Amino acid sequence: MADTKKLFIKTYGCQMNVYDSERMAEAMGGAGYEATETPEDADMILLNTCHIREKAAEKVYSELGRMKALKTDRPNLKIGVAGCVAQAEGAEIMRRQPGVDLVVGPQAYHRLPEMEKAIRAGKKALDTDFPEEDKFEKLKSRPKAKRAPAAFLTVQEGCDKFCAFCVVPYTRGAEVSRPVDRVLTEARDLVERGVREITLLGQNVNAYHGAGESGSKTLADLIWELDKIDGLERIRFTTSHPNDMQDDLIEAHGTCSKLMPYLHLPVQSGSDKILKRMNRSHTAESYLRLIERIREARPDILLSGDFIVGFPEETEEDFQATIDLIKEVRYGQAYSFKYSTRPGTPAAERPLVDDAAANDRLQRLQGLLTEQQRDIQNSMVGREVSVLLERAGRDAGQMVGKSEYLHSVHLDAAGHQIGDVVRVKVIESKTNSLKGELL
Ligand code: SAH
Ligand code: SF4
Ligand code: F3S
Repeated sequence: MADTKKLFIKTYGCQMNVYDSERMAEAMGGAGYEATETPEDADMILLNTCHIREKAAEKVYSELGRMKALKTDRPNLKIGVAGCVAQAEGAEIMRRQPGVDLVVGPQAYHRLPEMEKAIRAGKKALDTDFPEEDKFEKLKSRPKAKRAPAAFLTVQEGCDKFCAFCVVPYTRGAEVSRPVDRVLTEARDLVERGVREITLLGQNVNAYHGAGESGSKTLADLIWELDKIDGLERIRFTTSHPNDMQDDLIEAHGTCSKLMPYLHLPVQSGSDKILKRMNRSHTAESYLRLIERIREARPDILLSGDFIVGFPEETEEDFQATIDLIKEVRYGQAYSFKYSTRPGTPAAERPLVDDAAANDRLQRLQGLLTEQQRDIQNSMVGREVSVLLERAGRDAGQMVGKSEYLHSVHLDAAGHQIGDVVRVKVIESKTNSLKGELL
């Protein structure tokens, strides 16, 4: 096509943004845009942004400054901001950075093609509505092209939990689940295009309660429906809240062979005082009991978590309680953050912990988590795992994939193809990956 334009999307933040970026690229495909990897030859640049911590949000403005400079040589270049900063800051973004032509919130991006027409006509476009129509349905027309074997699929969006530190309930809105049949249709379509592993996404994915044939269905119900799809070999889900970990989901971890033995279950803190102030509505003890039950159902499950240190009024004793909890759980993977004040959240009003103390705690916490991660990874040596081959490795015949525990595994896989699931013996543990050989 002679008048094909080029779209460059840069994605920040969580997996849901990764999924959204794909859908935006597809929507813009229908409007005559093809993807490019280089901003320098783009006709339109979209930053899909994250507002979760101050640093994440501020990065957007420095990036916008750089992108705007490209307009000097390319006067027809348009710049848009999508995602959670777009939702949280709206028109303020255009005031702070006049080079921005378009601002679109995470619930309105199916309207991008119309908005693009408006900006081509020289207007500015802003849409941060939470519209009634189902954006997923509006975005139905996906190209049939072959794709990578591991895919994300959003099944639930938004959050009603209102943890005292978190912007997600404001940027993504109230919790909404997609109906079962729509999820299944999208999953089958992905499988036809070569997908072998689907990660179901939601800010609170285990609170899923989508409409099914006979009433509302749980995440476990949905997983069992996906289990029936031939050609789909692996199912994962993220992120879960401890309070929504229902019996049927725990049980599925023991009985559904396509459900992978990996669970991301953020706890944030091990101190009940802090958990209460965070409005987390679980205690350290209830979390530990839950972990016990999950391990009874699936003893080899690899656990992952999120932690915040330096939450307002966290004392050294509170921090020690978090360390104790981590020692008891033993995490195979973890994300940890220093508390960041977010405007508009309840915790933003409260007195901050001394910054040096917070930094010191973060370092100690990360030291422990890294050690646990390494020990668990090392313990894989000698074990047999299954690996979904996702891409070619550096050397000829070498391929890289993920084990059921989400470890990256490098191996010689001559004769195999991307998308194959192979049995592998782990022979070495490297810094951030494993080395294996075909069985
Ligand atoms: N829905 C998920 C995660 C949401 S955000 C959940 O409920 O667990 C991902 C992680 O970012 C959170 O788990 C939390 O650890 C961290 N986070 C969120 N807000 C933060 C803030 N204001 N400061 C520091 N970390 C934060
Ligand atoms: Fe944020 Fe809490 Fe909701 Fe997770 S559960 S998205 S941390 S408000
Ligand atoms: Fe960030 Fe929004 Fe995800 S704030 S973590 S991109 S939901």
